[in-house]
Amino acid sequence: MPIIFDPNSRTFKLDTPHTSYVIEIIDGDYIIHRYFGAKIPDTDLTYMHFSRNIGSFFPNSPDTGIALGTQLMEYPTHGIGDFRASALMIRGVDGTATTDIRYISHRIYKGKPVLEGLPATYASENEAETLEIDAEDTHTGAVVTLVYTAFSCHDAITRSVRVKNASDKPFVLERIMSGGVDMPSSEYDLIHLWGHWAKERTPERTRLHHGKQSIESLRMSSGHQHNPFVALVSPDTNEDKGDAYGFNLVYSSSFVIEAEVDSFGATRLIAGINPTDFSWKLGAGETFTSPELVMVYSSEGIGEMSRTFHRLYTNNLCCRQWKGIKRPILVNNWEGTYFDFDDEKLISIARDAADLGIEMLVLDDGWFGTNRNNDDCDLGDWFVNEKKIRCGMKELSRQIHELGLKFGLWFEPEMISPISKLYDEHPDWCLHVDGRKCSPARRQYVLDYSRADVRDYIIDCMSSLIEEADIEYVKWDFNRNMTEIGSAILSPEQQKELTHRYVLGLYEVMQRLLDKFPNLLIEGCSGGGGRFDAGILYYAPQIWTSDDTDAIERIDIQYGTSYVYPASAMSAHLSASPNHQTWRDTSFETRGIVAMGGNFGYELDLNKLTEAERDAVRKQIADYNKYQKLVQEGDLYRLISPFKNRLHSAWEYVSPDKSEALLTFVVMRREIYSRYYFIKLRGLDPEKMYRSSEDGRVYSGALLMNGGVSMVRDFKDGDSIIVHFTEVK
Ligand code: DGJ
Repeated sequence: MPIIFDPNSRTFKLDTPHTSYVIEIIDGDYIIHRYFGAKIPDTDLTYMHFSRNIGSFFPNSPDTGIALGTQLMEYPTHGIGDFRASALMIRGVDGTATTDIRYISHRIYKGKPVLEGLPATYASENEAETLEIDAEDTHTGAVVTLVYTAFSCHDAITRSVRVKNASDKPFVLERIMSGGVDMPSSEYDLIHLWGHWAKERTPERTRLHHGKQSIESLRMSSGHQHNPFVALVSPDTNEDKGDAYGFNLVYSSSFVIEAEVDSFGATRLIAGINPTDFSWKLGAGETFTSPELVMVYSSEGIGEMSRTFHRLYTNNLCCRQWKGIKRPILVNNWEGTYFDFDDEKLISIARDAADLGIEMLVLDDGWFGTNRNNDDCDLGDWFVNEKKIRCGMKELSRQIHELGLKFGLWFEPEMISPISKLYDEHPDWCLHVDGRKCSPARRQYVLDYSRADVRDYIIDCMSSLIEEADIEYVKWDFNRNMTEIGSAILSPEQQKELTHRYVLGLYEVMQRLLDKFPNLLIEGCSGGGGRFDAGILYYAPQIWTSDDTDAIERIDIQYGTSYVYPASAMSAHLSASPNHQTWRDTSFETRGIVAMGGNFGYELDLNKLTEAERDAVRKQIADYNKYQKLVQEGDLYRLISPFKNRLHSAWEYVSPDKSEALLTFVVMRREIYSRYYFIKLRGLDPEKMYRSSEDGRVYSGALLMNGGVSMVRDFKDGDSIIVHFTEVK
């Protein structure tokens, strides 16, 4: 039983295979957090109650005499004496915002509920149990339901919150966090993933200190700058050992994740919709549902925390239709041609692709409108530019299919160029504030996805092309963040709902397209990996990881991304050398080996390959087909961090049954002399014997993990090697 309620201690205990989470209802019906960590058998943790007489500056509850500001609260509310960051603030019709929720009832059931209109992890009745705790704020009539799901197959607990207005008067949600956790210690480091364009998801680790540390987005997108993820880890935690708590929002709009250390040495972590640009009016009888927060605890370091996220997202989050299904190896024409292509050029790339064993051609930006020869215009005009695609999209697609390839098309469905037919016809369809100028970015504005007419227009445009040209894959790009956040159709009091209404509109459009075209593969993209989040993965099982396709830079980016997201979520392509972003030369082999750490493809002009490179492509495709399942369904072990060791990096995938492993080693910069260099593998069965694909020798798992694999070679800068270990019985 993953979830139990002990009526004597009024305690809920949620268990996953190796973790427990405990909540207690105390006098006054306050909902208190007791424990989150390694699995425990106990249900009664009342001894943990912490109460101090700390004087008049910590007001006491009128019902219990307890100072709520000293408690570990399960879902802290505003204005009742807990002065730390709150999770919930409701402003009633009387204009006050004191919010006081007390337990009224609960339910425990098998499976996991769907979050209306929102992406979320999913689970069958055998995979998870759910606890719903109802609490009430009698003053406003808000019924607040805290929803927890404990997975029986993963060490993950998810949270979300529903607020129902059970009164006959409206109220306004000014702050509604998805959840978080109060911990009775501040001995943690905070890890988060920062970045910018072409340098996404760089891990940074800092010590918690008194006060608040937060990451956020106000961009109406998760953004390049901070991924909606943090981990709290003990100071001595590393890849393999120590406590690691990971928190990831399944959300793609403005968010905040905040850690606050109080003066008693407790830490509060809360995560949810960024309240700065948000409020939501709830009329009588209406309900609001928060996005989901995924919480993972590992006692075996950051590595196991990541592997739990990977398994959960691969099996219980990523777009269902593509679960466990290999995605096509593709060639994308962006870095090969940019805007300079026509149908003949595309067909000649397709011919080479078919000859080399590539499975899909993706036509990137520039095929639509009338003048899209640069990024100045035409977004929104989703009709084919017949000056470039003279034969028409249907015929182009027919010819590509005839070559045995699938066909994918780039769209940027949330955007509108001020120079476009669509803008001429509907200038009010973009986000804007009457009387203010719109700030362009990449010379484009953002469509107002809170409008049903805008959503219908986009679905119609995309559907007719998908149908007419038999499109199997959509690269869904999104190349700017939002400014002048205003909608022509929302009332003044609803304008602050736009940051959330927009993303609900986006999720609706993606879902309606998938309902219409169940076999469609959507790849998420946002100026590279600027919207790489769990919300998007629910619809688009793979996301373009970064516009930086330089293999050496990609090691950093893919390493950081792997803190949370599995290899199957990352798209990675081999591009030309010297690289277009860094002008670095890297060998064809290393470019391939790094790109095989995600959904593999090519992003160059295949017509320009030499014969030797064509042979290398054929070999890479054979290797990728051989290793893809191991990489995408196996367990990742990060062996040498490129952030700690700027000379070498290494990572390893181990199959779930430990019968095979794949080691990848890249020399970013060689040293003058070779020296002893043994890489200790991890995650193998010490009792099993494994044959190395490199020297044919058989080694025990124990030796590979304790003695290591010798990497003493005459490597040059940018060299790399993969070694496959297979069990010998
Ligand atoms: C940004 C994407 O990340 C690129 O891959 C490419 O699709 C361009 N946009 C096209 O404008």
